[in-house]
Amino acid sequence: MKSTKLLMAEHESILEALRILDAMCAELENGGSMNKDDIGSLVSFLRTFADGSHHVKEEAIFMPALMQAGMTLQDGPLRVMTYEHERGRALTSAMEESAARNNKEDFLLYARRYVQLLSQHIEKEDYVLFDMADQTLTDEEDQKVAESFDHFDKTIVGTPTYERVHSILEKLASKYLGAAVH
Ligand SMILES: [Fe+2]
Ligand SMILES: [Fe+2]
Repeated sequence: MKSTKLLMAEHESILEALRILDAMCAELENGGSMNKDDIGSLVSFLRTFADGSHHVKEEAIFMPALMQAGMTLQDGPLRVMTYEHERGRALTSAMEESAARNNKEDFLLYARRYVQLLSQHIEKEDYVLFDMADQTLTDEEDQKVAESFDHFDKTIVGTPTYERVHSILEKLASKYLGAAVH
């Protein structure tokens, strides 16, 4: 499979986490109280799957391949994408920290920002950066990127970790999004 298609498939899981976070925010805005276990589970998914795997693969494997093929960090998209990953990591920590302080207002602020940041980030990748990448990488270069992703998944993160975080996401989805959404 093309490397961009592999990343787009992972975006679907991240977008599901954003829908869960959005539903959590709506409950809080309707007077609900913070469920620290669920927030902790969602933060754990984001930290492991988005920050610790997907964004690392983009930064350490995908972007270097694009730069080697001629794109530069100064061109804009790669610099913006990297900056947004850093913002995402900071907001994940801010969400965790505000939940620990039991500060619902702060949590809502950071969570809403996170949902907006990552939704727009994914849209830019899916519709702009990945089109550029498909035109930039030769089939052979693309194949190498896909193989490096696979190697990263198996040796750095590992199948048990992916299974664990996906089961977290599934549980949260059935609670916050209803059984129909999968
Ligand atoms: Fe990204
Ligand atoms: Fe991405």
